[in-house]
Amino acid sequence: MRQMMVAGNWKMHGSVAFTSDMVTTLASKVVIKENVTLLVCPPAVYLAQAAAAAAHSGVHVGAQNLASVASPGAYTGEVAGFMLADIGCQYVIVGHSERRALYAEDNEIVAHKAKVALDAGLVPLVCVGETLEQREAGKAQEVITAQLDAVSAVIGVDGWSQAIVAYEPVWAIGTGRTASPEQAQEIHAVIRARLAELDAGMATAMRILYGGSVKPDNAESIFSQLDVDGGLIGGASLNADDFARIYACAQTK
Ligand code: PGA
Repeated sequence: MRQMMVAGNWKMHGSVAFTSDMVTTLASKVVIKENVTLLVCPPAVYLAQAAAAAAHSGVHVGAQNLASVASPGAYTGEVAGFMLADIGCQYVIVGHSERRALYAEDNEIVAHKAKVALDAGLVPLVCVGETLEQREAGKAQEVITAQLDAVSAVIGVDGWSQAIVAYEPVWAIGTGRTASPEQAQEIHAVIRARLAELDAGMATAMRILYGGSVKPDNAESIFSQLDVDGGLIGGASLNADDFARIYACAQTK
């Protein structure tokens, strides 16, 4: 049985007070089970605070992005992977569709960032997903396969065995339009099969999260799918009750 994960991507939301409330609420109210990792990904400026508040609670902390450069240097505004590890982050999201669309991160940059994350001792959550246009053109599998293959070329089987994949159809993110459990399962199976071409054991062990308008009332049916190993939650992760309810859904699998 694969370990499940429920991860919250706060995006550009939060404050000192919010971070404190959210992490202490989750740490005190959620019964954290060993077989379901609970992860929060606040904005970079709140990571150290979140990591300190989460210490020894079972709540894990991850970043939403990292610099593509590994070593210190003249890169104004960037946050390096080693800095994230230094302040207690264990995970980092790479290749979120908002970074791909708004900050021109292409498959090669995403692959490189996954490698930089691994080298810094972080677990990359590698996001893949198709746009509505690509889905309607029948190209979802092709797009996702290309996104995965670019990462495979850089991190290989060893890298993947330390990573997590998140399938996030772009048309389902922040839209209230969730993929049906069957649509999610179909693509998750494609992802696992593609990784199995590299290494069957790695693919079987891979955690593949679904993201895109996951809410307390649809989480259980999505998580119940064979190849869905949890969720990457945006909007609903900003409400402690909703996020806790989604976390509880992952425990029922
Ligand atoms: P959403 O976002 O849950 O608000 O749709 C998911 C994500 O972007 O990770």
